[in-house]
Amino acid sequence: MIKIAVFASGSGSNAESIAKYFREHDNIRVTLFVTNSSKAGVIERGKKLDISVLVIKNDQLNSPSLFEELKNQEINYIVLAGFLRLLPKELIDQYPEKIINIHPSLLPKYGGKGMYGMNVHKAVAKAGESETGLTIHLVNTEYDKGKILFRKKVKILPMDKAEDIAARVLRWEHDCYPKVIEDYLLKSS
Ligand code: GAR
Repeated sequence: MIKIAVFASGSGSNAESIAKYFREHDNIRVTLFVTNSSKAGVIERGKKLDISVLVIKNDQLNSPSLFEELKNQEINYIVLAGFLRLLPKELIDQYPEKIINIHPSLLPKYGGKGMYGMNVHKAVAKAGESETGLTIHLVNTEYDKGKILFRKKVKILPMDKAEDIAARVLRWEHDCYPKVIEDYLLKSS
């Protein structure tokens, strides 16, 4: 069985959709949620889904105790789903080409430091774009710069506010992310 840890800082709706998608999968399972916020919605979701949740402090991201924990739990891949910290090189080195992220825009547009969640959608709305989208990519030591695995365009309607754009992109994230993860894991492991 290929085991995934999903890292999330916020609501965790993607973490939930990924965990549900793999619940009955022949080869892949989400077995751990990791969060860096004791208030994150992903904690409640983990309880409901019967998935253990590890709450860490940001400075633990490059600590051997986290690497040990991931190793003890036999985690093969890390999936970031709204995890709002840059991962340290030490952690990335433990999982070469085995950490995946989703970003709610068509990278390289609207990526980089400070561009996350609603900040992205507000910038897209302000610029008057007619389309946006989502990008799924491998993680390296720079924000939103790893190899792109998948991009999906999402239409923006003339009356859309940032919140409408966010909701439409998120629905597509729930639809696309689990399938892209499945594809990549089955090809690369
Ligand atoms: C998602 O839209 C995800 O693409 C974004 O945060 C949201 C998390 O929502 N990630 C980033 O902006 C990363 N730069 P969720 O907690 O409901 O899954």
